[in-house]
Amino acid sequence: MNVEIHIANSSFVGYSQEICDLIYESAQARGTGIAKRSTEYVAEKIEAGKAVIALDGDKLVGFSYIETFSHKRFVANSGLVVHPDYRNQGLAKKIKKKIFDLSRKLYPNAKIFSITTGLAVMKMNTELGFKPVTFSELTDDEEFWNGCKGCRNYDILQRNNFKMCLCTGLLYDPKEPSIQKPSTFAKKVVKPVIKTRKPNKLYKK
Ligand SMILES: CC(C)(COP(=O)(O)OP(=O)(O)OC[C@H]1O[C@@H](n2cnc3c(N)ncnc32)[C@H](O)[C@@H]1OP(=O)(O)O)[C@@H](O)C(=O)NCCC(=O)NCCS
Repeated sequence: MNVEIHIANSSFVGYSQEICDLIYESAQARGTGIAKRSTEYVAEKIEAGKAVIALDGDKLVGFSYIETFSHKRFVANSGLVVHPDYRNQGLAKKIKKKIFDLSRKLYPNAKIFSITTGLAVMKMNTELGFKPVTFSELTDDEEFWNGCKGCRNYDILQRNNFKMCLCTGLLYDPKEPSIQKPSTFAKKVVKPVIKTRKPNKLYKK
C-alpha cells in the first residue's frame, strides 16, 4: 500500500462523483441511511480546501470533509470513507487525524463534533480527545439535523424531539483540557518505596 493523504484543492475535483459513489455504496453495505451529498457539494468542499483525499497512485481510496454549523461555532468532520480493499490497515485513522488537524487550523475556536453508531469512529474520536455527550451539547443548527432525514432511524429522532437517537454524540471542545488516554494510565509505573533500616547501634562493634 503506497497511499498518500492530501489536503484537497481544485486539482482533485475530478474525483467528486467517485467519492459520492463510494460513500453511497458503503452506506448501502452497512445498511444505514446517509446524509445525501451531491457531487456539486463534494466538489465545493474540495475546491475550498475543506477536505482530505487519500490516493494510491491515481486510485481513490479514502475521503473526509469539513462542515460548519451555528455560524462556524461547530465543525463536523463528515463523509469519512475508506475503499473496502484498503480497510483495517489504519488508513481511516490517518485520514481522521489529518481532517481533525485541518479543522483545528481553519477553525481553532470551534467545537468539533460527530454523531455515530460506528465503533470505528467512536474509537478514533476518543483517541483524538472527543468525549461522549448528549445531543443537547451539539449544534442546534437545523441544517445539520436535516442531514439525518436520509437515515432509517429518523423517526426515532423526531419522536424524541431531536434530543436523542441511536447515535452517540461525540464532542471535542478546544477550551477543555485534553483528556489522558487510558493507555497512558496503563503504562504508568508505580515505583515501590523501599525503606532502608538504619543500622542498629546495639549491634555495632
Ligand atoms: C469505518 C471505516 C472508515 C474504517 O476504515 P479503516 O481504514 O478500516 O479503519 P482503521 O483501520 O483506521 O481502524 C481504525 C480503528 O477502528 C477500528 N475499526 C475499523 N473498522 C471497524 C469495524 N468495522 N468495527 C469495529 N471497529 C473497527 C479498528 O480496529 C481501529 O481501532 P484500534 O485503533 O483500536 O485498532 C471504513 O470501514 C468505512 O469506510 N466504512 C464505511 C463508511 C463508514 O461507515 N463511515 C463512518 C461513518 S460514521
